[in-house]
Amino acid sequence: MLEGIHDSAIEALARVGYTHVVCHPKALPEERLLEEIADAHFVGIRSRTQLTEKVLAGAPKLVAIGCFCIGTNQVDLGAAARMGIPVFNAPFSNTRSVAELVIAEMVLLLRRIPERAAAAHRGEWQKTATGSYECRGKTLGVVGYGNIGMQVGVLAESLGMRVIYFDIKSKLPIGNAQPVPTLDALLKEAYVISLHVPQDDKTDRLIGANEIARMRPGAMLVNASRGNVVDIDALADALRSHHLGGAAIDVFPVEPKSNNDSFESPLRGIDNCILTPHIGGSTQEAQANIGVEVAEKLAHYSDNGTTVSAVNFPEVALPEHQSKHRLLHVHDNVPGIMGAINAVFSDNDVNVSGQYLQTRGDTGYVVIDIEANYSEEVLNRLTAISGTLRCRVLF
Ligand code: NAI
Repeated sequence: MLEGIHDSAIEALARVGYTHVVCHPKALPEERLLEEIADAHFVGIRSRTQLTEKVLAGAPKLVAIGCFCIGTNQVDLGAAARMGIPVFNAPFSNTRSVAELVIAEMVLLLRRIPERAAAAHRGEWQKTATGSYECRGKTLGVVGYGNIGMQVGVLAESLGMRVIYFDIKSKLPIGNAQPVPTLDALLKEAYVISLHVPQDDKTDRLIGANEIARMRPGAMLVNASRGNVVDIDALADALRSHHLGGAAIDVFPVEPKSNNDSFESPLRGIDNCILTPHIGGSTQEAQANIGVEVAEKLAHYSDNGTTVSAVNFPEVALPEHQSKHRLLHVHDNVPGIMGAINAVFSDNDVNVSGQYLQTRGDTGYVVIDIEANYSEEVLNRLTAISGTLRCRVLF
């Protein structure tokens, strides 16, 4: 476990019997990493450890990788899949943290706190109610009604807001939230708009100059989703011209790579704009949740073979395998492998009681439950099938 992963992960692993855990408080330089990973069955990292093809090639015993964070681009996912190693992460452990920050920012923006606070820091006393509002009774528009968007909606309703949402998928409303048919309808109606969409081709500059122009005069925009979703120059213009009343932005098209780099943005210096350094999900609670979520996924894969939510691997959801042996066979996704596997069973009179197959890209993953009375020969022949990447037995 590298990079100071939260103790909750170690505790979650210990609860299911995994006690031989070596912890490092920081990322390791490549040479040290190669030494440490050479005998490891699992590795847990956060964002700074680079698991390149070279490093993975030096880890012949590695069964699975846990990214105790959201992003996984520090791992060569393709190389891991080619070696039959699933990679797990924790995409949803910080949902509540993001939602709370959004709510707090919305309240501050509506009260014009950022600009009053900035003025106070400059020695100005702006004691006035002008332009300050309660959030009660205002309409919040949520764009992207997924895990975070829904939580924001629920919390906003508890403060007395009316919630509308737009999602490209049909989503059942939680609480009293109401769907609107188009983004345009939401832009025209909402007084506060909060963005919770993923980053993809369709959400790139989803909110540009045209969309901002359609927002209500004085409206507020919150973006804690992805930096490319908002055209930052257009937003800066709208804030400077006071078409928009305020904004809170946590994510940016270009973000500093480390805390030592300076932060550049056209939004700097605009008083009613809260700028935060991509910390929407950064809380102690989220770190603890991430620790448990990823540790449980690693242990579950190890004990049961389930790969649900793996980011680079076929996803297979499996029942318990009491009183059975379970074979996990990871292979190249090419024709003929399943035939070869099943031939081994029929040649050796092995009774198969369950079989679960999924493929993803170049990788196939089949899990086979069999009665316990099989010979070593069966395993040797399964491992010898051309295209086999890994073969593991659980009992
Ligand atoms: P999610 O996948 O649960 O929800 C996203 C929703 O957006 C889905 O319902 C999807 O159908 C919808 N959607 C996709 N394209 C859309 C479009 N063009 N228009 C309208 N709706 C669209 O994701 P989750 O967990 O709620 O995360 C949302 C965003 O928050 C992601 O971009 C994620 O990266 C970001 N995030 C930011 C954090 C931070 O620190 N600021 C921390 C955690 C997540």
